[in-house]
Amino acid sequence: MKLKMIAMAVLAAAAGAAQADDIAQRVETLLRQMTLEEKAGQLNQLSGKEFSTGPNSDNVRNIERDIRSGKVGSMLNIKGVRDTRRVQALALQSRLHIPLLFGLDVIHGYQTVFPVPLGEAASWDLEAIEESARIAAREAASAGIHWTFAPMVDVGRDPRWGRVMEGAGEDTYLGSRIAAARVRGFQGAKLGGTASVMATAKHFAGYGAAIAGRDYNAADMSEHQLHETYLPPFKAALDAGAATFMNAFNTLNGVPATGNAMLQREILKGQWGFKGFVVSDWGSVREMVVHGYAQDLPDAAAKAIAAGSDMDMESNAYGASLPALVKAGKVDIAAVDDAVRRVLTKKFELGLFDDPYRFSDEAREKAALNDPRHREAARRIAAESMVLLKNEGNALPLRRGLRSIAVIGPLADARRDLEGGWIVQSNAAKMASLVDAVRAHAGQGVRVDTAAGCDVACRGLDGFDAALKLAATADTVVLAVGESWDMSGEAKSRAHLGLPGRQGELFEALRAIGKTPVVVIMAGRPLIFENVAEQAKAILYAWHPGSEGGNAIADVLFGDVNPSGKLPMTFPRNMGQIPIGYQQYNTGRPVQTESNVVYKSAYIDSPNTPRYAFGHGLSYTSFAYSGLRASSTTMRPDGKILLSFTLTNSGPVAGAEVVQLYLRDPVASVVRPLKELKGFQRVALQPGQAQTIAFTIDRETLAFYNRKLEWGAETGTFEVMVGSASDDIRLKQTIELTER
Ligand code: GLC
Repeated sequence: MKLKMIAMAVLAAAAGAAQADDIAQRVETLLRQMTLEEKAGQLNQLSGKEFSTGPNSDNVRNIERDIRSGKVGSMLNIKGVRDTRRVQALALQSRLHIPLLFGLDVIHGYQTVFPVPLGEAASWDLEAIEESARIAAREAASAGIHWTFAPMVDVGRDPRWGRVMEGAGEDTYLGSRIAAARVRGFQGAKLGGTASVMATAKHFAGYGAAIAGRDYNAADMSEHQLHETYLPPFKAALDAGAATFMNAFNTLNGVPATGNAMLQREILKGQWGFKGFVVSDWGSVREMVVHGYAQDLPDAAAKAIAAGSDMDMESNAYGASLPALVKAGKVDIAAVDDAVRRVLTKKFELGLFDDPYRFSDEAREKAALNDPRHREAARRIAAESMVLLKNEGNALPLRRGLRSIAVIGPLADARRDLEGGWIVQSNAAKMASLVDAVRAHAGQGVRVDTAAGCDVACRGLDGFDAALKLAATADTVVLAVGESWDMSGEAKSRAHLGLPGRQGELFEALRAIGKTPVVVIMAGRPLIFENVAEQAKAILYAWHPGSEGGNAIADVLFGDVNPSGKLPMTFPRNMGQIPIGYQQYNTGRPVQTESNVVYKSAYIDSPNTPRYAFGHGLSYTSFAYSGLRASSTTMRPDGKILLSFTLTNSGPVAGAEVVQLYLRDPVASVVRPLKELKGFQRVALQPGQAQTIAFTIDRETLAFYNRKLEWGAETGTFEVMVGSASDDIRLKQTIELTER
């Protein structure tokens, strides 16, 4: 059997190599036929936003003309079989009949909307995350889309930055694992399948480190920080086969990412050997002029193509300037040819030259967009993404036998808001709101009523009376508060992260009448809600949970699903703590006890500890960690240590626990954080069931970048920790890496 598998693998590799050679030859043949203008055309991407909605405007007519004359290589924001077929037909009228690539932001679903990516990350369920991307790809690919501008793999440690919603949170290791899962989900085993789309690792690089959490702001960091924190998820996406990268709006250490040769040529295409292509972010080539890095658009085009930015999204810099720049000797034709080869190679790999319409298939679109399994998956994954932050006195799940439930708050009957930002098309009309879902769950004989109290902005209290009156008559009150769909995402930085407007006062007013509610918070990022955190009995963080979010929240509230989510980002107590993460350093004056902070690395007006730590998340059951065993406490450089322990479901109901492995290197050539996530496993157990959990520790686990940016492990002792959260370590063990 083994031999047969090896033989099949060898044959597959040989076939892959043969196909690659064949494509390379076809690319060269085509390249030799192309004029300079046609080459520039392949590097030109335009938006077709108006094509499916607007009238036959001058803009549409001009773009159609350019497509017919081979001046456009890709269109974004055109979707659906009808429109993609129509526009592709225009491209096939060009002299060389080179098909277009259709790209779209399929960030967390095409038609079926999954939780926002930060919410999905809270599931820590890599299989579920991959499944979600696979479903999104199947729906998008069936509708003529070749390429999604996802996953966004920017590490985000500043909740003021609205785009933390699109990523996987603050941790490099978790972000890397999720980046790879999302790429696998979007692309499938091999590019070219008509249920897969090209993925895009974005935004390369350092975008999440925007100063002051203000979107599009400069990012400035040490090379050590860049390599240790921000680059690994991109490398993980590349290793998973990401077909494309997208660069970023920000400058990194003074150089715009779009014109940054260190990032795109030295690291991405050089050290990492990336063979795909890089697309600029919307207008970022042009923005190099605004940054003050380029004199004018032609200068920006010259700097961007030289730095390795292959395709120009929406600046029309390449299309307008590259031919003249090459003729004037300001741009090396080799750089243009390299970029064109990369783009054409992907078009061949997708099979578009063999059949330019293969992704635009009515029957497949109908089947994919009407598959009930997609909504089922969205509901399951949304429930898994939710984080039970607090549950005093087992206030949740809602007990049976209730006679009346009041669902209060601006998000109680919301639908569009549950989908979050960055969706392709809303399903709001077909969605269940939270109150719809509570009604469905509560069953006959239970009165379920709702009152908003205020809108999401909640600037006025005029709805409070009605809400309080209703609450006063109910056995149980569920308060649904948080952000509207457009309070997180791109260009949504917030300087205040409290519950919007006067939502917090609605909670206080309910408490004042003796109706402390169960609180459900929906948002695209961590928020700050100190009073609620202190005084509520139970808090469920639902993120923006997608098309099935209302049903999923009710599944958790009624205990049909036992919550297992864990925070992928730290929740601060106040704005002053930001940026805050679990990857803290000891400093020379660490706080030992909150009562003694004099001349310590501390605030005089706030604890250092967050409101909720990275990795935090409760369950309706409990889990016991016991019997930590190490196969050895010392390890040679080429050795391994098997760390194992017993996890027991010590509570009353089935549940899943995300066990987390952290490491500390207490003495090293550069100081290391007090803990770093190095592994995790999501384990489902029945009540009373015990399971041995094992982690393998090897040199890679212990490695880090030293001052010379060399990746490696240094001898000495290490502390390995296993826990339920970064601030809930249950077992620990010291091990030693020896010289030999
Ligand atoms: C946006 C975003 C990027 C997106 C692109 C196309 O500005 O920064 O993530 O993929 O433009 O919509």
